Amino acid sequence: MTRHFRTLLDLERDELADLLDRADRLKAARGTAAALADKPLAGKSVAVVFEKASTRTRISFEVGIHELGGQPVVLIAGDTQMGRGEPLSDTAMMFSRFVHGVTYRTFGHDKIEALAAGSSVPVINALSDAYHPCQLLADLQCVRAEKGRLEGVRVAWIGDGNNMAHSWINAAAQTGLSLRLACPEGYRPNPAILEKARGLGADVTLTDDPREALAGVDVVTTDVWTSMGQEAETQARLRAFDGYIVDEAAMRLADPSAIFLHCLPAHRGEEVSAAVIDGAQSRVWDEAENRLHAQKALLVHLLG
Ligand code: CP
Ligand code: NVA
Repeated sequence: MTRHFRTLLDLERDELADLLDRADRLKAARGTAAALADKPLAGKSVAVVFEKASTRTRISFEVGIHELGGQPVVLIAGDTQMGRGEPLSDTAMMFSRFVHGVTYRTFGHDKIEALAAGSSVPVINALSDAYHPCQLLADLQCVRAEKGRLEGVRVAWIGDGNNMAHSWINAAAQTGLSLRLACPEGYRPNPAILEKARGLGADVTLTDDPREALAGVDVVTTDVWTSMGQEAETQARLRAFDGYIVDEAAMRLADPSAIFLHCLPAHRGEEVSAAVIDGAQSRVWDEAENRLHAQKALLVHLLG
């Protein structure tokens, strides 16, 4: 059966741990003669498909596939027949005949599911409205490097109950980290995703008070208040998230050794202050770099 990576739940817990180990090895070895000679994707091509904007995801997949010896085929969906309404089922058939894997950034998560359902090659979710699992691989690699473990690490999510929040919820189920979400009314995570994760043993709490979520945590993380596709809601969201900025006062509520993460792009002065994202506790550049290492590990796992 074809393996896909639609959400973090598509991996077994031990597979995820092995994948993060591999990501660490790839990070340490990058640029060495041994790494340059190791081409697990030699002779393979991967379609890298975007229906939304991207900087990090595009660069990390394109460079990562190249470094593994494969051929990335970057497609901006609007420039393809996908943008003219060719059915996803037919597109999936075409990808299956031409390439060895597909990464897909889109809107509704049902489109990830539809592409995967019709594809005999692995489909990797490069962000949907509901999940961003590739980002979580990088974030978990970062947390593990900083804290030495994932089990029991206390993480505060401050802001929108969005695709990133949902993937942190799945990460809690898959790793044993303890997640405290602070989201305003109307912007809470999908209850079905929360309940499923809790059913798998995830330690996740939900409040509307950022101070409660932040108390003593090891990791503080947030994301934009207006995700791609929600631009028309910007003003309402600015009002709803008033008081949810991660600033220096917020960071003082966390453990003194806490790190700050953000998937980027960030809006300084909205969800995070410049002093925090550009400050000593921020690890956002390591986090972004880890996209490369973690996705290379994922590609080797699924296609290598
Ligand atoms: N974090 C992230 O996915 O960044 P891009 O939107 O730039 O790919
Ligand atoms: N929640 C954001 C993440 C961007 C990487 C969005 O979906 O736009």
